Amino acid sequence: MGRTFFVGGNWKCNGTSEEVKKIVSTLNAAQVPSQDVVEVVVSPPFVFLPLVKNELRPDFHVAAQNCWVKKGGAFTGEVSAEMLVNLSIPWVILGHSERRAILGESNEFVGDKVAYAISQGLKVIACVGETLEQRESGSTIDVVAAQTKAIADKVTDWSKVVIAYEPVWAIGTGKVASPAQAQEVHAELRKWLQANVSAEVAASTRIIYGGSVNGANCKELAGQPDIDGFLVGGASLKPEFIDIIKAAEVKKSA
Ligand code: 13P
Repeated sequence: MGRTFFVGGNWKCNGTSEEVKKIVSTLNAAQVPSQDVVEVVVSPPFVFLPLVKNELRPDFHVAAQNCWVKKGGAFTGEVSAEMLVNLSIPWVILGHSERRAILGESNEFVGDKVAYAISQGLKVIACVGETLEQRESGSTIDVVAAQTKAIADKVTDWSKVVIAYEPVWAIGTGKVASPAQAQEVHAELRKWLQANVSAEVAASTRIIYGGSVNGANCKELAGQPDIDGFLVGGASLKPEFIDIIKAAEVKKSA
């Protein structure tokens, strides 16, 4: 299958330059499995991207937390995909639920963003996930399938996409999805890719889990067959992020 484990750290809207330097030096000193076992990507706020890119060890990579839906120009406050490429930023997180919910990003808008970012040469961590209300009403799979479809409608090169399943009710709440709950949705997403894109894309696309992942729960989650890594929020600002990276070893011995 060849799905290299993927661990992303989403720093969200956190940090001062001093704090950022401290996190980077902790990461730089860490002993972690090699790049063929785990791909590590950290995502600082835009303003710290050059600093982190310059100081971070070369086997770890950086991601922006968003970029504009089309070519830059008269869009005050936005950052374009071209600018990220110009700074050699390889990855971008798109469709995070905090942007979908608070800033009203629709499925279609996220699909357009993913396609444009890829067309400019970026790789994308594309986020999907249901709210608590949607889970309780039994529509989880329909919701994540519709979010994935809006991306699939616009994307042809799936080698540039990692899907992050992040149930909204698990983000920042300390209420992690159980390994069985996460595995169920990951397996359904893979089935969806198989039925609607191709068997090859279904087998090779990494589907990572996000939502209250920490040093204590990461190994059990990593042991699930369709969980190919994590997108970590709060714990990515702490030294335990290194333990989460090391959870990749679970896959190696599986
Ligand atoms: P937490 O790990 O803080 O729950 O955040 C998850 C997340 O939103 C990552 O993108």
